[in-house]
Amino acid sequence: MHRSKSVTPSRRYSWALTITLLAGLWGCAPAPPPPEEEPAPQWPELAGYEAMSIPENNPMTVAKIELGKQLYYDPRLSGDGVRSCYGCHLKENGLTDGKPVAIGAFDKTLTRSSPTLWNIGYHSELYWDGRTKGLEAQVKGAWRGGNMGASGKDGAPSMDDVCAKLNEIPGYKEQFQAIFGGEANPDRVAQAVASFMRTIVAVGSPWVRFREGDESALSEAARRGYTIFSEKAKCTNCHDGLLLTDLQYHNVGIGMDAESPDIGRAKVSGDDKDTGAFKTPTLLDIAESAPYFHDGSAATLEEAVDVMLAGGKPNQWLDEENLRDAKEAELTEEEVADLLAFLRGLNVDYDVSAPELP
Ligand code: HEC
Ligand code: HEC
Repeated sequence: MHRSKSVTPSRRYSWALTITLLAGLWGCAPAPPPPEEEPAPQWPELAGYEAMSIPENNPMTVAKIELGKQLYYDPRLSGDGVRSCYGCHLKENGLTDGKPVAIGAFDKTLTRSSPTLWNIGYHSELYWDGRTKGLEAQVKGAWRGGNMGASGKDGAPSMDDVCAKLNEIPGYKEQFQAIFGGEANPDRVAQAVASFMRTIVAVGSPWVRFREGDESALSEAARRGYTIFSEKAKCTNCHDGLLLTDLQYHNVGIGMDAESPDIGRAKVSGDDKDTGAFKTPTLLDIAESAPYFHDGSAATLEEAVDVMLAGGKPNQWLDEENLRDAKEAELTEEEVADLLAFLRGLNVDYDVSAPELP
């Protein structure tokens, strides 16, 4: 396991600055000296949540995040040269691709739906089944796997081949040299892209402001919906806390009626009781990320919520215990409407735009 290190906190600095400015306005002399060594935050961080765990061998720097962002948006990283990481985690689709299941490199249809990446730096286990630990490893998995297709097989370039191409691009070559003291290689690409993904944090969203005590961040209907979500239907048994996920795996019955069901977490843990269990998704930006579930089987938010309110879909491994309150809530039509208003209030403004590529 990596030891973790927290990212620079921001609050004290801005308060000190405010006080200094106010003192200046009131003409108090002499103004207190500005506080030292409290630089302004350089990347977003979820206030009120434990610090993100950053691997010691991959510290965040502004230059590395910038490089990672370019690579994340660059289709030249892929095996077929036409898709970028961003291409399946689009802003207008709530950081998903808006398809039931993803279409990977060389137009191969994949088996699962693209999940949103909001607050992904706070997850220690990645993918619907949590099979990969840490974002650095995840980047390489997606890059050489079906998503990006840099497999080095069947005529496709390998990650090393792609890196050789990157090293021919002066703008990349210079950045890798400045940041890593050497050329692009798969580990360094993965470190840069992982650093960028750690900045995909839903700060300032209505949900975060609401949790910080700003009631007006959500509409009245949404606030009633929140009470249903957290108290009556207890969706929070799984969609818990600021992240709206407990980061655990549950069987809610999706896709279990297929001829050969995706067994999900059980493939990773080897434990029969994890059959059909998937990582609880966050619900941030949920109104934008249709269709829903790991297999994209619910076309609309109403449909997805109906499945949950029915207590999931019956099967041998269903997590009945955590779904009981949802099932027994027996919500009125109005209450369902409020619950949906809450979910639609979980949108996130993403003000990041595509970088210029070297
Ligand atoms: C073809 C579409 C596609 C492309 C391209 C793609 N992804 Fe994904 N991404 C997916 C799908 C589908 C999953 C879920 C797969 C699974 O769980 O088995 C996923 C999962 C993830 C996750 C895990 C999310 C979670 O909740 O655990 C991360 C992080 C991620 N992708 C980042 C990336 C990065 C970085 C790249 C580029 C190297 C990339 N993706 C390229 C479709 C794509
Ligand atoms: C037992 C834990 C649990 C409870 C309780 C629960 N959920 Fe979920 N929820 C999940 C899991 C796990 C998934 C993903 C299932 C899959 O795709 O296989 C999910 C998926 C969803 C999705 C689709 C998300 C997406 O990105 O595709 C929505 C919407 C949702 N839940 C809303 C709710 C609401 C509303 C409630 C309360 C009425 C609720 N959930 C209760 C575990 C839970």
